[in-house]
This record gives sequence, C-alpha cells and structure tokens, in this order.
Amino acid sequence: MDVREALYTTRMMRRMRPDPIPLETQCRILDAAIRAPNGGNTQRWHFLVVDDREHKEKLAELYRECREREYQEIAAGLMGRSLHGDDEERAETLRKIKASGKYFTDHFAEIPLLIFVFSIDDHGGANIYPAIWSTFLAARAEGVGGVMSTVLRYAEDTVTDMLHVPVEQGWRMTAMLAFGYPLGRWGVAANRRPVHEVASRNHWGQPFGAEIPAPLWSGPTEPAGTQHNA
Ligand SMILES: Cc1cc2nc3c(=O)[nH]c(=O)nc-3n(C[C@H](O)[C@H](O)[C@H](O)COP(=O)(O)O)c2cc1C
Repeated sequence: MDVREALYTTRMMRRMRPDPIPLETQCRILDAAIRAPNGGNTQRWHFLVVDDREHKEKLAELYRECREREYQEIAAGLMGRSLHGDDEERAETLRKIKASGKYFTDHFAEIPLLIFVFSIDDHGGANIYPAIWSTFLAARAEGVGGVMSTVLRYAEDTVTDMLHVPVEQGWRMTAMLAFGYPLGRWGVAANRRPVHEVASRNHWGQPFGAEIPAPLWSGPTEPAGTQHNA
C-alpha cells in the first residue's frame, strides 16, 4: 500500500466484524509497531493483547461506566471547550462521536482484538504514540481497522489489576486499542481544518504561505472529501 494512502485513510473505525484477526496478521502489525522511534531507544513499552471473551465482557462493562463518566465531564464543559468550531459545530461533532461511540460500546465484547499499551515515563505520550500510530498504520495495510481509546483511564487500577500488570515497576496504561475488520469503508479523513488554518511560518499567526482547501491525496480508494465515519 502506498504510504500516502495509509496516512490519509487510517480513520478510526468503531464498527467492526467479530471475525478473529489471524495470529500471523497480529504478528505483522506488532512487528511493524515496535520499529517506531522512542526516546533513547529505551523501548519502555508493553503491548498486552486481549482476546479472551470473559476479559472482554468485564472490560465492556467498565468501558460503559467510564464512557458515561467522560460524557458527564464533557457535558459539564470540562472537555467540550477543546473541540474546535462554534457552539453549533461542537455540538454536532460531539453528537457524531457519541453515535458511533454508542455502537462501539454496545458491541465491545465482540471486538476481536484489544491491545492495551503500557509504558514507563512516556514523556506525556511522546515516547509511546509513535508506536501506537504505527500499529494503526500497519493494521490499515492488513485491512484491519480500529479505534484508540483512553476512556478506561478512569478505571486504570481495576484494569491493571485484572490484567496482572506489574504497576510496582512503573508501568502505566497509555491507551487501549481495539481492532477488527471494519464494517465501514476506508475514506480520506476530510473532516480536518486545512493546513493554512493550523500552521504558520516564522512567527505564530503569520501565513503559512499556501492554501490547501482540499486533501492533496484523494485516490485510489475513494474521491477526496468522502467521509465514512465508521
Ligand atoms: C488520545 C486519543 C484518545 C481517543 N479516545 C477515543 C475514545 O475514547 N473513544 C473513541 O471513540 N475515539 C477516541 N479517539 C479517536 C478520536 O475520536 C478520532 O480520532 C477523532 O474523532 C477523528 O476521527 P477520525 O480519525 O476517524 O477522522 C481518540 C483519539 C486519540 C488520539
């Protein structure tokens, strides 16, 4: 797969088939992920793969509770402020995330593969998110989609206890990645503010020097601007 296709079309896919992901595919995904850069090449990361149904059912309950808590915080205005756009746009973005998030939550126990990512001193995520994103790109090349979530942070102690994580050694949960073969179609992530609105040159706020009104890559999967928020 062309690297640009992977970069432009690796959307978060919340609707997936329950079909298992073969072990060889899992190997190719994680073997690519561990090539990611990390500070001092200390590789203080651990990928805990969960496919046990009993675990997933317990985690599904926890996920539902944590999600409720997150929405309460959003509703209280703690997090909603960070969504870009005016109030109406923010409400619409939130509505869409909630709708696809509901499907994901209701089908959580059927997700074929969860990968819990743990790290030590992750430098505010800088040391671990390159590997997390490589996991998604490598999965994309295999036709596997998914979503990353930090919602379970509200229940971190319960999760680490359940998964026997050696927290006394400093391991902390960074994110949960959920993977499966997507029900939706891959499309360009067009719902982004364009480069000229989020970039400047030499001084903050000075024009970047070019306007890019539409994604610069649009094929071969689907035409530019097509949105399938799965
Ligand atoms: C750190 C982080 C945490 C996220 N947490 C969640 C989450 O808990 N649930 C979820 O459905 N999506 C989560 N996402 C995915 C974002 O909601 C998603 O990237 C965004 O809505 C844009 O959608 P798109 O990538 O499909 O275009 C998270 C993304 C990041 C980077």
